[in-house]
Amino acid sequence: MLSSERAAKAHAEEDFAQAVLEGLSRTRRSIPCRFFYDDAGSALFEAITRLQEYYPTRIETTLLEAHRAEIASLAGAGRVLVEFGSGSSRKTRLLLDALDDLAAYVPIDVNDTFLQEAASRLRARHDGFPILPLVADFMRTRALPTKVAGLPKLGFFSGSTIGNLSHTEASAFLSNAAHLLGPGGLFLVAVDLKKDLDILLPAYDDADGVTAAFNLNLLARINRELDGTFDLGRFAHEAVYNEAQGRVEIYVVSLAEQTVQICARSFSFARGERIHTENSHKYTVEAFQSLARSAKWKPIKAWTDAEDLFSLHLLRSA
Ligand code: SAH
Ligand code: AVI
Repeated sequence: MLSSERAAKAHAEEDFAQAVLEGLSRTRRSIPCRFFYDDAGSALFEAITRLQEYYPTRIETTLLEAHRAEIASLAGAGRVLVEFGSGSSRKTRLLLDALDDLAAYVPIDVNDTFLQEAASRLRARHDGFPILPLVADFMRTRALPTKVAGLPKLGFFSGSTIGNLSHTEASAFLSNAAHLLGPGGLFLVAVDLKKDLDILLPAYDDADGVTAAFNLNLLARINRELDGTFDLGRFAHEAVYNEAQGRVEIYVVSLAEQTVQICARSFSFARGERIHTENSHKYTVEAFQSLARSAKWKPIKAWTDAEDLFSLHLLRSA
């Protein structure tokens, strides 16, 4: 391993330890959801995307298939495609095939392994095409690879990952993306919509328990990386809809009174006590457009499916 890679790994471990120790010391315990995505977590997310109950991936794929030619024509030729939270880049193939004369693809993700594997798969598919992966927190990315400086950009934020940010974070993210994508930049953002709870809640609490395993993997990751002693059988997954905040909230709930060690510190849990692990905000088309405008983006076009479950938005830097 290069010394720069070693330093990045040490920094990531410290970031995780600090977030966990701080988050579990609060009265309302919480851990930021970006820590879901170690290798096991990213694999479990991929399994979620294949679930019958998890409609977002399926509908976003359908929308991309239906509208990619129009998106390509609105984008024009010669752009760099910059993807935030690219994961497996599976849906991105649809855009890579449709966009004219792309200059390069810059996938950005916190999971280095997943990012490099996705990049290798795409290199095999698009021989000689520049694929420039960037291991980074998209909330803190201040610069893109110098090779793409000065070239026109099209951003892509898929999966409705914007829903995992608070409104304040989403606004800060969109403003930073406007800076990264530059003057004349375009941004394609996937946004999950408000809907009946009988469709929404099973998407976050599936019958096979894959989402539960994804959530509880965060405790397993703490055990692996931070000398944790969580007994996974004594915690459960919970998904609830917070109507006032317009979001699904995910928790791990302690099934007993118990004490857990992490980094040689003790944390006591009462029976029923929860750790908040994720929010997944749901928008209306208008509410998302208004958020985009407040972050200096001009909505160009929005596409939704026939049942108004999910949306894709094309924005232009204002
Ligand atoms: N875009 C893919 C993956 C969505 S899952 C899809 O639509 O299927 C969310 C992805 O964002 C994961 O790959 C995760 O590793 C990444 N991610 C989450 N928080 C991040 C952050 N703060 N910075 C960079 N990547 C992040
Ligand atoms: C990545 N993100 C948009 C997913 C979501 O739907 O909020 C993560 C997820 N959490 C539970 N299931 C899926």
